[in-house]
Amino acid sequence: MTSNFEQLESELQAAIAAAGDLVSLEDVRVTALGKKGRISELMKGLGELPPEERKSFGQAVNGLKERVGAALNERKDALHKAEMTARLGSEQSDITLPPRPGPLAEGRIHPVSQVMDEITEIFADMGFAIAEGPDIETDYHNFTALNIPDEHPARQEHDTFYFNEKEDGSRAVLRTHTSPVQIRTMLGSKPPLRIIAPGRVYRCDSDQTHTPMFHQVEGLVIDEVTHMGHLKWVLESFAKAFFEVDEVKMRFRASHFPFTEPSMEVDIGYAKVGDEIRIGEGDQWLEILGCGMVHPNVLRHVGYDPDKVQGFAFGVGIDRIAMLKYGMPDLRAFFGADLRWLKHYGFGVLDVPTLARGISS
Ligand code: PHE
Repeated sequence: MTSNFEQLESELQAAIAAAGDLVSLEDVRVTALGKKGRISELMKGLGELPPEERKSFGQAVNGLKERVGAALNERKDALHKAEMTARLGSEQSDITLPPRPGPLAEGRIHPVSQVMDEITEIFADMGFAIAEGPDIETDYHNFTALNIPDEHPARQEHDTFYFNEKEDGSRAVLRTHTSPVQIRTMLGSKPPLRIIAPGRVYRCDSDQTHTPMFHQVEGLVIDEVTHMGHLKWVLESFAKAFFEVDEVKMRFRASHFPFTEPSMEVDIGYAKVGDEIRIGEGDQWLEILGCGMVHPNVLRHVGYDPDKVQGFAFGVGIDRIAMLKYGMPDLRAFFGADLRWLKHYGFGVLDVPTLARGISS
């Protein structure tokens, strides 16, 4: 028996030493120690032995198992090292080569995203937080709470996309403006508040300057003392920072929104010189936003006391100011997904707008 063991051991050791790579070494391991391997098979004979021989037999098999296992591990390490050394010797990289242009270099940030980042940067510097709301709104948040009751004509003017009526008779809408975020923010927190809410809005309308989906940024400031002077200052400071000019021409026209009183629309003055648009010069005007002092009814709707708190709100057309700033003539091209357009008007991934560096440089 002993000589059988010795014979098997030397056979296995020889096979281990002869294995030239990890795959053939694994074959040897399975032959020796696998479920049906030669050492495992030996163990099965244990039961047939007379009891007094079982112990020494078992010990012998275990010893064999251990030595073969150790030899296998040792060989495995050696083969591993040899493989690595061979790889390190054959593979090399030339670190003087220029980096391959990947998505980071070729991808473009859409002007709307870029302008949203610019706007965020400017208002964050003035201490505004970012608020958000859903694109699919309730009629209540989009209209009723904003002082637009059921039969109000403003509901028609909004060219609203309605969803089908639910069982309880209510209809969800694709929000027609970002103003419902005013309501959500006020319902969710106590004054004072200073937020902006950028996002998508939807109206059933399409021509060179209107698309069924477009972007707005809402602004809302509520506290005990904020007045129209603050509103004008904030909007003027924003316009100067955004268009990167020292002086900007703004025209505040009396207007009407159910959720503000008084209400204004604001135009930006510009000149068109050839293809170039110059902000702060000339006598052309483009309407870019609506604003006003938050209507007392709106404050009541969210449980604020209009005798204690007040403030202003504004809603800026993001696509409009992007067109003005970057001289993009057709709004529909924004959403045409034409790569040539995006290559031309888009921004590099690393062009992160910061006030310190100049918002668009
Ligand atoms: N929600 C208005 C619109 O979409 C803009 C606005 C916002 C006006 C806030 C006043 C105050 O036209």
